[in-house]
Amino acid sequence: MSSTLIAPSVLAADFANLQRDVEMINRSEADWFHIDIMDGVFVPNISFGMPVLRDIVKHANKTIDVHLMIVDPDRYIKTFAALGSNILTVHYEACTHLHRTLQAIKAEGMKAGVALNPHTPVHLLEDTIEDIDLVCLMSVNPGFGGQSFIENTYQKVTALRQMIDQKGANTQIEIDGGVTDKNAKQLKDTGADVLVAGSFVFKSDDPVATISNLKQLTS
Ligand code: DX5
Ligand code: ZN
Repeated sequence: MSSTLIAPSVLAADFANLQRDVEMINRSEADWFHIDIMDGVFVPNISFGMPVLRDIVKHANKTIDVHLMIVDPDRYIKTFAALGSNILTVHYEACTHLHRTLQAIKAEGMKAGVALNPHTPVHLLEDTIEDIDLVCLMSVNPGFGGQSFIENTYQKVTALRQMIDQKGANTQIEIDGGVTDKNAKQLKDTGADVLVAGSFVFKSDDPVATISNLKQLTS
């Protein structure tokens, strides 16, 4: 099995020192930039939008993984492609025509991701899994960084891994929320491919070392 990818969540960065924090991720062992876009409607919080992403992309030299926590994400697929997103993840709960949305994301040259809230069962993806490049399992309720990991996530990883293998799909499993050095290895062993980590990285004394530690724990 290849080593787990680490995706620091820029939501936990210091926005007054964003270039510094982006450059920290560039020189660390992190694999992706995880970008949380919130609209204050799908989730009870507003994060940041297009102008900030544009400036992050200017400095970032790794894969840009955008997590849209917004209603009606179809309206912005072209915009996020133009901004330089490599992966665009929409919420299952926000898409009436998920299959169409996935095709629209891919038509713009991006990888297509689907995020599931903690209450949304993985079996709902049975009929679309082969069209999905990445499933983001929310291990907290979306909207805020710094929350505690929901333990039921392990079961969801197991069920999803089984579904992916059964269908012979090429889908990556990403875990988002409350990831720390306490759960990273078990998540990897259960079948996760990508771990998002916000507060655990940015609130640590040495974020580069923290990323390196997560990488080691999961290699
Ligand atoms: C939550 C976001 C997460 C968040 C993770 O709504 O989707 O990506 O930034 O932050 P931590 O790692 O602090 O839980
Ligand atoms: Zn996220």
